[in-house]
Amino acid sequence: MCEEEGLSFSVREYSFAGELEREEQKAELVVLIPEVLDCQYGMYVWPCAVVLAQYLWFHRRALPGKRILEIGAGVSLPGVVAAKCGAEVILSDSAELPQCLENCRRSCRMNSLPGVQVTGLTWGQVSPALLALPPVDVILASDVFFEPQDFEDVLSTVYYLMEKSPHTEFWTTYQVRSADWSIEALLYKWELKCLQVPLESFGANKEQLAGSSLPGRHTVEMMILMLARGKHCASPNIGKELIYK
Ligand SMILES: C[S@@+](CC[C@H](N)C(=O)[O-])C[C@H]1O[C@@H](n2cnc3c(N)ncnc32)[C@H](O)[C@@H]1O
Repeated sequence: MCEEEGLSFSVREYSFAGELEREEQKAELVVLIPEVLDCQYGMYVWPCAVVLAQYLWFHRRALPGKRILEIGAGVSLPGVVAAKCGAEVILSDSAELPQCLENCRRSCRMNSLPGVQVTGLTWGQVSPALLALPPVDVILASDVFFEPQDFEDVLSTVYYLMEKSPHTEFWTTYQVRSADWSIEALLYKWELKCLQVPLESFGANKEQLAGSSLPGRHTVEMMILMLARGKHCASPNIGKELIYK
């Protein structure tokens, strides 16, 4: 247990390792994520976050030079991994949940990432903070499709950012909680297309990832959303051939 300004939290370590064919040295990344024991959603790492972080780690060579926004970041494991791999990262969580924004900042401090900006973005709200954002290449989100009444707010925020820069892609992992939930009609309404990314294509079809047993037996899936009419270059090397396989 650690303490900061009277708040107790525990710190979990996530370690990513892997060799690519042409890599001479074994690549390794260890990130530290502080978690607060609290019933609020954004205070600890969710299984989807480990899967999305694994996707980023697997495609780490394509990240430098990309501007990436994470929404509903909570303790921000995917955003921290992206920043550690060289992306320019902006973390966000609900503007109405200052503790979650503080979690984003704490995760940055713990991983020596002073350059990561943290901002309050509430899904579905066209706020000054949303208007002030620069164009981004990628929007990340892990486990933001957990309340059906919020699905359209998430997608409208994503759509707003894609309108600003039509090449933007939305990389998201979600937990299958109910067979009745679907975003299909919303994708049609917001003119978005969806590519499902198989977990095995980025080494995430395991119960244990990054030294964590969090994915466990949860059914986590990954998809990439983009404007149906857009031109996509955020991830020239990322995923395309894997996605279509
Ligand atoms: C299930 S948690 C996932 C947290 C983190 N992405 C992860 O996977 O570990 C959902 C996150 O969405 C944030 N959130 C909930 N409602 C929101 C809203 N209306 N606007 C923005 N963020 C919201 C919560 O604060 C929380 O951080």
